[in-house]
Amino acid sequence: MAEIFRIIGGRRLSGSAAIPAAKNAVLPILAACLLTDDDVTLSNCPLLEDIENMRRILEKLGCRTERTGRRLTVRTASAASHEMPDGLSKTLRSSIFMMGPLLGRFRKATVTYPGGCEIGLRPIDLHLKGLRVLGVDIREAHGRIDCDGAHMHAGDVLLDFPSVGATENIMMAAVLTPGETTIRNAAREPEIVDLQMFINAMGGRVSGAGSGIVRVKGVKALHGAAYQPIPDRITAGTLLCAAAMTGGEIQLEGARADCMDAVLIKLREAGCLIEASEDGVRLTAPERLRPVDVFTQPYPGFPTDMQAQMMALCCLAGGTSILVENVFENRFNHAAQLVRMGADITIHHRTAVVRGGRLTGARVQARDLRAGAALALAGLAADGMTEIEDIHLIDRGYERLEDTLTSLGAQIRRLGK
Ligand code: UD1
Repeated sequence: MAEIFRIIGGRRLSGSAAIPAAKNAVLPILAACLLTDDDVTLSNCPLLEDIENMRRILEKLGCRTERTGRRLTVRTASAASHEMPDGLSKTLRSSIFMMGPLLGRFRKATVTYPGGCEIGLRPIDLHLKGLRVLGVDIREAHGRIDCDGAHMHAGDVLLDFPSVGATENIMMAAVLTPGETTIRNAAREPEIVDLQMFINAMGGRVSGAGSGIVRVKGVKALHGAAYQPIPDRITAGTLLCAAAMTGGEIQLEGARADCMDAVLIKLREAGCLIEASEDGVRLTAPERLRPVDVFTQPYPGFPTDMQAQMMALCCLAGGTSILVENVFENRFNHAAQLVRMGADITIHHRTAVVRGGRLTGARVQARDLRAGAALALAGLAADGMTEIEDIHLIDRGYERLEDTLTSLGAQIRRLGK
């Protein structure tokens, strides 16, 4: 029997929680380990399905990896294959990040079309276009992509859209390529800044991450490093919404307010008191949440990865909220499930109109990672019992979410298996 979450709503969250390293920082950093022959040690890495799958991919390529608690060690000296294992790449969209590092290391890469959450078409044309500018010869057939980097050179890449993955992939492909590569209209997410810091900690010469123009000066080789990736701003945002929706008050140790401006601004608009310091972020919920309008955008705009959780919050607000999803074309999987819990939501193309009210417990289904998280939040605030199916999708991005929420006073259990 598959596992479910059973939540009894109505408990006010209070206390403090520590935020682990960001999944979306750890994944490209694990891929970038292939750019060195030396060992890399990463700390504070949560035990998540997506991260474990990336480890398995590295092992299939011949690397050795070890996990001790939240410390991950990657030994790449024995890496021997440039061909991505088929089954694993399909389970993890980020496996596409391997193209850049594999090309850097072996000057060739074979990958299959990636999988991941079902939140839209998620093409990889920008990745391929950028790599072609760097002189990679790419042939696509039967769902496989064969990349030949024998004649790779530096280049000037202009992204048609600031794609996070494409920016990271091209950065990594350029690190060991002679000359200076420029990526214009680069994505500006904090995880890209973190990747730059990691590559530079290994002796790379990358600059500009966090702005729209990233420059990569090719170096001959990278050395090993010990590195702690940035804390997860989406996990932090999710927990803040949980506190806001239950009338709670929580402190998130290690959360970086400077990476979460857009979300914190919206929580303030909703009436929450937010106090940010060097140590973390504290939220105190208002008596009644106010409605907010949310437009997802590439960073520093409101993150699409927080849209579902914010929609759950809007279901409780005293008024009507409008949420527009600009990044992915099919990312309202949670709306129909929230409606089963009594929400009043109307969707038209990329716009959701949410008339706030009350939520009641129901049996619902996590349709993707963040949709699942949104349902858990709704369950915490709903009257009665909520059961969430397909929680393996939630496990892709939250390390034992039920334990974190329980420690904050929630009534939530994992059942089944
Ligand atoms: C990353 C994050 C994901 C987040 C997303 C947007 C990781 C591991 N995942 O995903 O959690 O939701 O950023 O913040 O970091 N696109 C194209 N062609 C491409 C690439 C992207 O059209 O070649 C489109 C996508 O379909 C999507 C938009 O660009 O509509 C944004 O995608 P992108 O920024 O690439 O997201 P990911 O890197 O996949």
